Amino acid sequence: MEWAERIETMTAGYRDSCILIAALKVGIFEALGEDKRTSKELAAALDLDTHAVDVVMCALAAVEILRKEDDRFTIDPGARPYLLPGGPETMVSIIGHNRSMLRSWVQLEDVMRTGTPATRQERSTDEMEDFIRGMENVSRRSSEEVASKIDFSDARRLLDLGGGPGTAAITFARANPELKCVVFDLEGPVGIAAEQIKKAAFTDRVTTRAGDFLTDDIGRDFDVVYISNIIHMLSPTKTLALLEKASGALVAGGRVLVKDFFLADSRIEPPWTAQFSVNMLVNTEGGKSYTFTEMKDLMARAGFGGLKTVGIARNSMVIVGRRES
Ligand SMILES: C[S@@+](CC[C@H](N)C(=O)[O-])C[C@H]1O[C@@H](n2cnc3c(N)ncnc32)[C@H](O)[C@@H]1O
Repeated sequence: MEWAERIETMTAGYRDSCILIAALKVGIFEALGEDKRTSKELAAALDLDTHAVDVVMCALAAVEILRKEDDRFTIDPGARPYLLPGGPETMVSIIGHNRSMLRSWVQLEDVMRTGTPATRQERSTDEMEDFIRGMENVSRRSSEEVASKIDFSDARRLLDLGGGPGTAAITFARANPELKCVVFDLEGPVGIAAEQIKKAAFTDRVTTRAGDFLTDDIGRDFDVVYISNIIHMLSPTKTLALLEKASGALVAGGRVLVKDFFLADSRIEPPWTAQFSVNMLVNTEGGKSYTFTEMKDLMARAGFGGLKTVGIARNSMVIVGRRES
């Protein structure tokens, strides 16, 4: 692509994002389901403005999310499982979560001037649900991949620290019949985890514990502590403190698994991860995408040895370390 075209595409990138998120949030995709409907019918069913709905639906058809035949629209069958709720592939919650992210991202200029994160209102219950259920959308495949690439056969107790909806804990328990897991997270999220654990029929081997992992007791005598998509929210000082706490929660010789999006030392590769670091810049106090070198250094300082890296899908890596004493 020519430079002028690349710059134009980047500059107007918010359009794609806003169209998709707004269409989802007003209920266009759910109302369409597997049907073919006109924008007028949809606007009437959802109590929306007919002209506005028609313009947005044409724009969605232009990028092939929708198909348009005469005046009737349908969701492209390939995109449908991701845009509708309830199914195993759904991305509905993570799309909703990105609506909150947009509000922070528009403050990036201020963040760059002040060095402080975007101002945000306390998360509403709906936003918390989108965030935590969105983690289920994004962590489903990576959890399965971790379960297939990392041997848990000698482990009996695993702590999923900041485990959100419990996706990893349920997946690991399913793959390892001897394994018992605890999902540790804040009060609201563990409620969602408990619901997911019940739905998956794992209440006998996956339990929850509510608390703040920075200030509360996280338990002890675990063979594995899994820390997935957590450290990018934390400053180096807090990351070190969390790793030390994880070490204290392990039996001697137990393993910590840090799963995250890591950068090469240049800090510009992979590009997705360099951009994700901006997401953490605007949304957190001190969070970022860590480099492998930074992370391994912090893990070594927290007393973990034998560090090894396991690559998993979608820009993610797991760094495994053993508690040395
Ligand atoms: C990005 S999500 C990752 C969820 C899950 N580990 C995954 O990989 O899908 C971060 C999780 O950390 C939890 N969390 C954030 N701060 C926390 C704290 N101080 N104590 C406990 N959990 C916390 C959030 O509620 C959320 O579930």
